Amino acid sequence: MALKYPCRQFKEVIKWGFTSREDTNYTYDLSADNILYMAHFIATVTGKSHKEILNYFDEIQNNQELKEHIQKETAKSPLGRFADKKVRFGRRLGWYAFVRVLKPKVVIETGIDKGLGSVLLCSALLKNKEEGFVGKYYGTDINPQAGYLLTGKYKESGEILYGDSIESLRKFNEPIDLFINDSDHSHEYEYQEYKTILPLLNDQSVLLSDNAEISNKLALFSQETNRKFLFFKEEPIKHWYPGSGIGVSFK
Ligand SMILES: C[S@@+](CC[C@H](N)C(=O)[O-])C[C@H]1O[C@@H](n2cnc3c(N)ncnc32)[C@H](O)[C@@H]1O
Repeated sequence: MALKYPCRQFKEVIKWGFTSREDTNYTYDLSADNILYMAHFIATVTGKSHKEILNYFDEIQNNQELKEHIQKETAKSPLGRFADKKVRFGRRLGWYAFVRVLKPKVVIETGIDKGLGSVLLCSALLKNKEEGFVGKYYGTDINPQAGYLLTGKYKESGEILYGDSIESLRKFNEPIDLFINDSDHSHEYEYQEYKTILPLLNDQSVLLSDNAEISNKLALFSQETNRKFLFFKEEPIKHWYPGSGIGVSFK
């Protein structure tokens, strides 16, 4: 009875070993129930209906233009035709919905890797712009090769700040409406990012952590700054990875 759980996971490890070239920053789909829970989670934080949030999930899931852009840029990347082809957003659906609901003027994502979050977030900003809400995305990364997906029209609303994330944040001087922490995943580094941006936050600012399944730093920072904290846990399907999540800090 107990072995059925690790055996199921082992089957996924073998499948992944033969079919995927992702050895870090794994992508996967989430179960239907998990997506519904994520919609309720974001609805609770933002005060919107879960139906509105589900509509935003559909909007990005059905965005063929963005998916084709990602596939095209991936094909040009160092892994080229060997790279995984299917576009899977996982918890980033939630990031998209936050941008669509909050209509932020400034979004920062620390740690961008290929730029999957970057293009998705810029795509949300472009949709907001169509509705009259202008916003800008800033991604940070220490790797000069990072962010190769952020090209074309998506780059119009986004910019990458190369170098150590905390160094970039120290130089940043605009109020931050939405902040996503996904760079160096050491707990102390994560905490220092929050401390660095504190003077740029206001009561409307929302902070997301991509580290909260293993780190309590955003919860602690929220306690110290009189903010609320909630956590949503991903439930990937057809993958051995147990999932990450979204920690959120808000007033
Ligand atoms: C998990 S990946 C980011 C994934 C990305 N947010 C996404 O949606 O796919 C972490 C990234 O953080 C970057 N990184 C690690 N340490 C960093 C630091 N001190 N400053 C800036 N970026 C850093 C890495 O180069 C890597 O690209």
